[in-house]
Amino acid sequence: MMVLVTGGAGFLGSHLCDRLIEQGDDVLCVDNFYTGSRPNILHLLSHPRFEMLRHDVTFPLYVEVQQIYNLACPASPIHYQRDPVQTTKTSVHGAINMLGLAKRTKARILQASTSEVYGDPRVHPQPETYWGNVNPLGPRSCYDEGKRCAETLFFDYYRQHRLEIKVARIFNTYGPRMQPNDGRVVSNFIVQALRGQDITIYGDGSQTRSFCYVDDLIGALIGLMQTAPEITGPINLGNPGEFSMLELAELVLKLTGSKSKLVFHPLPADDPVQRCPDITLAREVLGWAPKVELADGLRETIAYFEKQHG
Ligand SMILES: NC(=O)c1ccc[n+]([C@@H]2O[C@H](COP(=O)([O-])OP(=O)(O)OC[C@H]3O[C@@H](n4cnc5c(N)ncnc54)[C@H](O)[C@@H]3O)[C@@H](O)[C@H]2O)c1
Repeated sequence: MMVLVTGGAGFLGSHLCDRLIEQGDDVLCVDNFYTGSRPNILHLLSHPRFEMLRHDVTFPLYVEVQQIYNLACPASPIHYQRDPVQTTKTSVHGAINMLGLAKRTKARILQASTSEVYGDPRVHPQPETYWGNVNPLGPRSCYDEGKRCAETLFFDYYRQHRLEIKVARIFNTYGPRMQPNDGRVVSNFIVQALRGQDITIYGDGSQTRSFCYVDDLIGALIGLMQTAPEITGPINLGNPGEFSMLELAELVLKLTGSKSKLVFHPLPADDPVQRCPDITLAREVLGWAPKVELADGLRETIAYFEKQHG
């Protein structure tokens, strides 16, 4: 099986390439290194079934493949807000180009969508049937609306051209190869703890988040790709276990043995109080549920940061 992974040099994409190579596929990794990096895939470069192509998905791509995982897109606010026009282009033009490729090659195609399509949700937790509450004009819109439009394109190609599509709505995922300075809470806390810096908590730390370990998430993406053609998604993928920011900070302190102090800053205006996936559909359709405990996933992530950036 020749499998294309766009965004394959990024955090999730590189783990996906690892897993596909392990299971015996041929992998073509396409990335423009906007947020991804060569070290993430360095260990794969000499593998006979792995190929790397530097390419921007906003331009058409002519290759022969049987499956496409479309992950190309900066994922953290710091990165996707750096060049918001490019972010929308990557989501929308990228989707059009990859769907066009899927149409020509008759490849099955999976879209890495996001929980952000629910925006500032009025329903908790969010089932896939909820249409969301997204601000189309704000600084986050390039990402949220770009991903929403990509979903629309996937379903139009499905209806109009009978493409085999799979749409995954991914919730917060963490693990080795996250970037240290991308402003996400797990990497922030770990880096601050390892450097002995104060750990910054916004608000009183009682707001909760749920975190899915990368290995669990990759298993779900591959499982979704293998489902019957009538399964299109969208399907929520994430870990429903909720932790307060205080619990997370204390766990990181314990696991790193750090003496960092917790400092409290005012809560940003748009910070949701709670975000938690409803994975009923994933349990039913994929027979999938995350397995890795937060403490175990954090241990692996901390070990990675110690080695890479310590
Ligand atoms: N990590 C999460 O928690 C999470 C949550 C929801 C959705 N997602 C989605 O999963 C995908 C991967 O996220 P990630 O966390 O690995 O982010 P990442 O930034 O590490 O990976 C994205 C990759 O896409 C590449 N890229 C960006 N624009 C490109 C373009 N125009 N052409 C080619 N390559 C391009 C980047 O260089 C990078 O390697 C994204 O689509 C993201 O929206 C991730």
